[in-house]
Amino acid sequence: AKLLVLHGPNLNLLGTREPEVYGRTTLAEIDAGLAAGAAQAGHALESLQSNAEHVLVDRVQAARADGTALILINPAAFTHTSVAIRDALAAVAIPFIEIHLSNPHTREPFRRHSYFSDLAVGVVCGFGADSYRYALEAAIKRLAS
Ligand code: DQA
Repeated sequence: AKLLVLHGPNLNLLGTREPEVYGRTTLAEIDAGLAAGAAQAGHALESLQSNAEHVLVDRVQAARADGTALILINPAAFTHTSVAIRDALAAVAIPFIEIHLSNPHTREPFRRHSYFSDLAVGVVCGFGADSYRYALEAAIKRLAS
């Protein structure tokens, strides 16, 4: 099946961005690990990072036409602000897993609300780069059942 990974704003800076919060693994390393894991399970995986909300909205919309079976998304700061990306995911009705490197519930109060969690298949947060790995594992299991 086809998997789509979406990364929101500032995640292009992973590796050097607040490493005490987000770790030292780069986004390229995360994406390479996901691509390898998906391929091993016989799935195709494409990753996209954008700092622009409309780029993410457009990519979610395109996922309906391109046969994407499941979306893995770390909306980053858009988690707490974007009705537009939420609505796009609801519109295409493709199941998605919400991912965060940090555990937003232990941080500033404004990070406690997500526009995504109540629509998500599940949420993985707090395990650094491993959050993506665990989410992929859950995605592969779901696609097999
Ligand atoms: C994040 C958590 C968000 O609150 C924050 O704005 C991010 C990254 C995470 O992966 O921990 O940019 O989504």
